[in-house]
Amino acid sequence: MSPKQDTGLEPDEHGDIVRKGYNIIAGKYYQDRDLFENMKEINDFIEHLPDNAVVLDIGCGGGVPVLKILVEKGYTAKGIDFSTGMLELAKKNVPDAELIQGDIMKTDFEADSLDGIISTYAIIHIHRSYHPALYLKIYNWLKSGGVMLVSTAKTDWEEVHDYFGVEMAWNHPPAHESLQMIVNTGFEILFERLVTTGEETHYWILAKKP
Ligand SMILES: C[S@@+](CC[C@H](N)C(=O)[O-])C[C@H]1O[C@@H](n2cnc3c(N)ncnc32)[C@H](O)[C@@H]1O
Repeated sequence: MSPKQDTGLEPDEHGDIVRKGYNIIAGKYYQDRDLFENMKEINDFIEHLPDNAVVLDIGCGGGVPVLKILVEKGYTAKGIDFSTGMLELAKKNVPDAELIQGDIMKTDFEADSLDGIISTYAIIHIHRSYHPALYLKIYNWLKSGGVMLVSTAKTDWEEVHDYFGVEMAWNHPPAHESLQMIVNTGFEILFERLVTTGEETHYWILAKKP
C-alpha cells in the first residue's frame, strides 16, 4: 500500500482498469496467493451460517479459497466477478458453484434471499464513491440474521500502479470510514479487526443484518 495518490479516474474508468487487468493476470495472481491466510476470518463467518446456507462471494476471482470452501461445506455458493479471466479459473476450480459474470454495482439479487455475503480483497478495487450503495445492496440482499464478511483497506488508498505487469487501480477509504458506512447502513458489528498477512494489513469486518 502506497501513500494516497489522486488518480483523477471516473468510477467506471477505474473499474475498466481493474477488470482488464485481472483478465490478464488471473493465473499469476493465484501463483502468489496464500490460500490459507484468512482461514480464521472465513471460519468465523461460516460459524454464523445456517445449514443449507445460500452464500454470495463478491469479486470471487478464481473461486479459491472462498467458493471452494463454501461448496465443500454443502452450501449453495454463488460467485460474481466482472473479469472473464478470473471466472475461467473459477469454473475449473469450483465447477459446483453458480458463477455470474458481471459488475456487482450493476447486478441485482432478490431482496432477503441470501444467508451470507463475503468479499475478500475485492472491495479495495471498487471505487469508494460506490461503497455506500454497495453496502446498502448487500444489506437488502441478506435475510434478517444474515452475515457479511468483508476485507477493506486499513488506510486511505487511491492509486494506479503496475501489478504483476499490468496497470491496476485501488480506491478505498480508511478503516474508520468503512466501519461508519457499515454501521450507518444498519448492520450490527460482530467483529472488526486489522489482519496482517505477509507485508499487507487489511481491515476485516464481520457484520450481521438484525
Ligand atoms: C484481488 S482479486 C480477489 C479475488 C478473490 N476474492 C480472492 O480473495 O483471491 C479482486 C477481484 O475482484 C474483482 N472485482 C473488482 N471489482 C469488481 C466489481 N465491481 N464487480 C465484480 N468483480 C469485481 C476482480 O475482477 C478480481 O477478480
